[in-house]
Amino acid sequence: MGRSESADVIEGGARLGESGKSNKIQRELDLRYGVNALDGRQLLPAGTRLDGDVMERLACSATTQWQQVSLLEYGTVRADLRHHLTSDGAYRNFFPDTVMSKGVEALMAAVMLPLPVLECLSFFRDNDHYTYRHVLTVFALYSLLAHDMREEMDTSSLDMAAGPLHDIGKICVPLSILRKRTPLQRAERDLVEHHAVAGYVLLTYYLRDSESFAARVARDHHERRDGSGYPLGIRLEDSQVEMVAVCDIYDALINPRPYRKENFDNRTALELITGLAEKGSVGWNSVRRLVAANRRDRPQPDACVVSLEKRGTPPAENSYGIFQEDGSEPPE
Ligand SMILES: [Fe+2]
Ligand SMILES: [Fe+2]
Repeated sequence: MGRSESADVIEGGARLGESGKSNKIQRELDLRYGVNALDGRQLLPAGTRLDGDVMERLACSATTQWQQVSLLEYGTVRADLRHHLTSDGAYRNFFPDTVMSKGVEALMAAVMLPLPVLECLSFFRDNDHYTYRHVLTVFALYSLLAHDMREEMDTSSLDMAAGPLHDIGKICVPLSILRKRTPLQRAERDLVEHHAVAGYVLLTYYLRDSESFAARVARDHHERRDGSGYPLGIRLEDSQVEMVAVCDIYDALINPRPYRKENFDNRTALELITGLAEKGSVGWNSVRRLVAANRRDRPQPDACVVSLEKRGTPPAENSYGIFQEDGSEPPE
């Protein structure tokens, strides 16, 4: 696999960088940058160690009673989601008949969020359409897979809010970096990676719970089963978090991104994710669920045979994960 291809895997996680190996040994989760509430007040300063006591205090610190609003009914979300799912050929594999079945739509319609969090999505819609589209389509895809699992487990434990909220920490990353079309500098890369921990802090505060599934997904969705991810480089063992992560990787591959001109086609994206399972970065169960939902005959995931053949062609000019080591400071 060439460098630019392995780099796109990094949308899912690993900071492979120059050596090809994860270089993180830190196991304590410390804030590298401060995190502000969405109204600008500082929630936690840089350097804070995010231990249980700190997060518990943060979860209990909100005094405002925010209005809870249906995500699907908020602003243009429903229409935008319908547009993105129907305009993207790859998603027709998952939603062939209608945009969403009644069962999937019911799961999504149950997601109620605090108004400031929804306003954050509006900010993405107006300023960073890649992220806006991405979080909505991950929401739909993850909800579809969770719906397929509804007889195996309580879907409330899979909390659909994790789909649209997994990247909420990107609100803490400068737009100039999120929109950048050329390779990132080291300091910029660090700011991008900050979105996972920032999302964990923001959701702990706004959902008033440091252990909610959505908050854990925000923190861990770039961790990987083989320890090759970030922010900690721990071995991700939570298969439910991993399901969101696999949806995240797939969507990042098949949708437009600032750092490459063309997206992956469906087949090549699935082959790349299958390759991640082959090397142990993600689990086969998650991959089988994704592949089964993508097939026209909808086999049971346990009976779904995943091809190991690689015939796809990754798009050219993909700058994701290619970093400049010039030591310059990030923009304000
Ligand atoms: Fe992310
Ligand atoms: Fe994402």
